Amino acid sequence: MERYWREKEKLVNQALRDYLRKENRTNRELLKWMRYSSLAGGKRIRALLVLATVEMLGKNPKNFLPCACGIEMIHTSSLILDDLPCMDDAILRRGKPALHRVSGEAKAILSAYALCAEGIRLISENAYDLKVSPYALYRILKSISLTIGIEGISLGQFLDLKYSGMKCSRKDIEKIHFYKTASLFISVLEIAGILTGAKEKELKALKNYGKNLGLAFQIRDDFREGKGKIKKEGKYSLKDGQRPNYRVLLGKEDAEKAFLRYKKRALFSLKPFGERAKRLQEIVSLLEL
Ligand code: IPE
Ligand code: IPE
Ligand code: MG
Ligand code: MG
Repeated sequence: MERYWREKEKLVNQALRDYLRKENRTNRELLKWMRYSSLAGGKRIRALLVLATVEMLGKNPKNFLPCACGIEMIHTSSLILDDLPCMDDAILRRGKPALHRVSGEAKAILSAYALCAEGIRLISENAYDLKVSPYALYRILKSISLTIGIEGISLGQFLDLKYSGMKCSRKDIEKIHFYKTASLFISVLEIAGILTGAKEKELKALKNYGKNLGLAFQIRDDFREGKGKIKKEGKYSLKDGQRPNYRVLLGKEDAEKAFLRYKKRALFSLKPFGERAKRLQEIVSLLEL
């Protein structure tokens, strides 16, 4: 990966470490488990999207690290829950035993809950520090709340379980992927846009980019099911075989085609930004099956 991204990744990892360091005698163990999952690695693509987007819109990415890290915490919380025995029953996540396997289930659930809440706090604090209007702050909190909940990850994960072991149409799978994965990408782009005071037209373009990038991203994840996933991503779940999977249900060729189609649409959404969109274009290009 190019130096630009490596430097940004370093910034994010350092800031995440700082934000999860506020321990005292009472919360020490809770923070330890929150750090276990958050600092285990991970590609940080959602945080990098925040930083690259605000930079494209003329701002200094360093001033948006709380938001970028808050988003990563919310994402990590969704992975902890996704890994639970009642969900995908994961053994490995980010190259380490899944959190519940070391902390126990109850502590894993509470750590996820705390990470999600801390993520929202960091995003709102960043918005406040940047002196956005109350309306902008409302839109940001509305966006992330819907994404965590009934119009995003919770709904997507709900559908993922509901459709497990069933024959799914392309439409069904796309619906699941839209909610469980693309919704957070959309929110990330929308929040970065609102924080920088982007125009409505720009927000629409950013959200469209987020949607298509997110859909391509989940197909890529579905593509790497099985042994490849342990090696390439450091994750392995016992119930993955039961979940609706684009490649398994619609075939390799179809999955490849859809992946390329979404990447193309993501790139097309960036047209209004012209040359300035170089980094966001790069993220699309770096995504490979
Ligand atoms: C995993 O996300 C969950 C999906 C939506 C596919 P990532 O692949 O971004 O996981 P990390 O953050 O790099 O571990
Ligand atoms: C994860 O979906 C999506 C979330 C919202 C957590 P998956 O179950 O397909 O992701 P991995 O493969 O475990 O990371
Ligand atoms: Mg899952
Ligand atoms: Mg999973």
